[in-house]
Amino acid sequence: MGIIVSLLGKRASSNEIFYAALRFMRQIGVAMMRESRWLFLLLFFFLIHSVDAWSQEHGSDLVQRGQYIFSLTGGCACHTVPKGTFNAGARAFPIPLGKVYSTNITQDKETGLGSWADQQIQDAIVKGIRRDGSNIIPVMPYEAYSGMAEEDLKALIAYLKTLKPVKKATPELESGAPLTRSLGIPTYLKIFGRFSNSPAQAPKSGIERGQYLVEHVSLCGDCHTPRNFIGVPNRSLYLAGAGAKTSPLGEDIPNITPDKERYRQLETGRYR
Ligand code: HEC
Repeated sequence: MGIIVSLLGKRASSNEIFYAALRFMRQIGVAMMRESRWLFLLLFFFLIHSVDAWSQEHGSDLVQRGQYIFSLTGGCACHTVPKGTFNAGARAFPIPLGKVYSTNITQDKETGLGSWADQQIQDAIVKGIRRDGSNIIPVMPYEAYSGMAEEDLKALIAYLKTLKPVKKATPELESGAPLTRSLGIPTYLKIFGRFSNSPAQAPKSGIERGQYLVEHVSLCGDCHTPRNFIGVPNRSLYLAGAGAKTSPLGEDIPNITPDKERYRQLETGRYR
């Protein structure tokens, strides 16, 4: 602007006009460069923002799928004391000669999973191995979960990591048998353990999907199949119901096989 005013203020020679025009153009050029630098930065931030938004959306997609898997598992309900704080553990389960308490699976750093790596959480779910290397009592159905697809595990863990931290320490294992964790469980698993291979992807439809959910995600057999006194499932009575003494819940659980009379097996002898 200054140049134009000064040119108008005095009668300029053609040379002066030429150089003034040149300076003017240069100033415009510099201004444009300055502008475009802002434009460039703006574009850059816009790009970063959209990539971030995309990845967040992508991430929350994963969390949503994880929540769906979580609900298919029955909300990992064993980790909640009935009417207690969700996922904070401490629900008691009877085992031969004692009691085991489900653990806190919230994101609390000290008493929950807050400081566990994804792989450590996965090892606990599918191998029954804790972060400190000790064995998890197989009341936690890791043998069945070992067949859960990688993609579902990943989503489930992403969801678990969104759980609000709740500080609540898990009571210690109460067992009358010494070395339950260090010797008893590894021996039990060697003899009776039934692990599966985790497929990369879960079956998407049909009977295959149903079977996958029943066996590796929703674990219907965990409650609906009777067990012997040391907790080994009787596979010839798969899903055929369990009596109070042979079910993990300590109550009668119905036969859900397609048996026409739908009678309860075993010691209950009651018909429905
Ligand atoms: C945590 C233990 C548990 C799990 C896991 C479980 N159930 Fe059950 N189920 C029960 C109990 C306990 C009952 C009986 C409830 C009652 O009598 O009120 C029952 C009842 C049923 C009934 C009603 C049967 C009848 O004769 O009344 C069906 C059907 C059923 N479950 C199917 C399933 C399926 C399918 C799955 C897996 C997707 C499953 N359950 C997983 C504990 C479980």
